Amino acid sequence: MKEYSTKAKIITMTSGKGGVGKTVTAINLGLCLSATDKRVVIVDVDLGLANVDILLGLNQPYNIYHVLTNQIPLEKVLVDIAPGLQIIPGGSGQDKLANLTEFERQHLIQLLSDLNNHADWIIFDTSAGIDRNVISFVDLADLIIVVTTPEPSAITDAYAMIKTAVQNQVSGKICVLLNRVVSRHEARICHQRLLQVSRKFLGTSIYDAGYILEDPCVGQSVKMRKPFVLEFPRSQASCCVMSLASKIAKNVQPPQQKTSLLRRVANLFW
Ligand SMILES: Nc1ncnc2c1ncn2[C@@H]1O[C@H](COP(=O)(O)OP(=O)(O)OP(=O)(O)O)[C@@H](O)[C@H]1O
Ligand SMILES: [Mg+2]
Repeated sequence: MKEYSTKAKIITMTSGKGGVGKTVTAINLGLCLSATDKRVVIVDVDLGLANVDILLGLNQPYNIYHVLTNQIPLEKVLVDIAPGLQIIPGGSGQDKLANLTEFERQHLIQLLSDLNNHADWIIFDTSAGIDRNVISFVDLADLIIVVTTPEPSAITDAYAMIKTAVQNQVSGKICVLLNRVVSRHEARICHQRLLQVSRKFLGTSIYDAGYILEDPCVGQSVKMRKPFVLEFPRSQASCCVMSLASKIAKNVQPPQQKTSLLRRVANLFW
């Protein structure tokens, strides 16, 4: 039986540089978290250039734009993806979404607060960069996952995102996820570097969310428009995302069950 929490935990996936893997991670992480008997809603808040629905092979008539403009209630844009997992598609190519006024942004956040009745976990998938829309969703999070690859430019931009989050005095835990690494060692070195500069120049500690290995299955699953944890459950990338889900669920909401979360997530797919 599902346990219903009164307030959903919010994870915001963000990055400084674009194309580092926020959306593929959000979708696959969402699936793993839903496999632990929790209700998960992924909200595509890459306002203006949304693509969660594209990566899932969906073509929905309604999206977040229709909610914001009061054309349709929130419940009507929720799309069922798997047991326990729903998404709210974002709107692509709509100027209004890309250029929200502060008032409209607050109105949207207010409307989205209804998701507390539908989810234990809400995952916001943002666009890259430090614009006002992104910062608003970073600000709402219990857990801010800054995604980066080991490329120096991505690491520099991840630091810029961390700095902006700290300057905005966010209350959520800031953690870094290293994506597309060739080894655990590479991830550790990059994480250490970010940890040291954040301590030295921002006086803050960032957490280690772990890593996802570079894996051709990810690109293949994108072309198939299917999540890799379902298509390639034994792939290296799937194992990494399962441990990420396990780590998050353990740290943010201690599990009730005695079986390890990683085992329970893995059992569902293998
Ligand atoms: N671990 C990985 N191994 C191999 N390829 C990957 C991995 N993670 C992501 N990719 C590739 O990177 C591409 C971009 O991923 P994604 O769309 O999730 O990035 P994003 O950060 O959401 O981009 P944007 O900033 O445009 O929203 C994917 O289509 C996939 O091909
Ligand atoms: Mg994206």
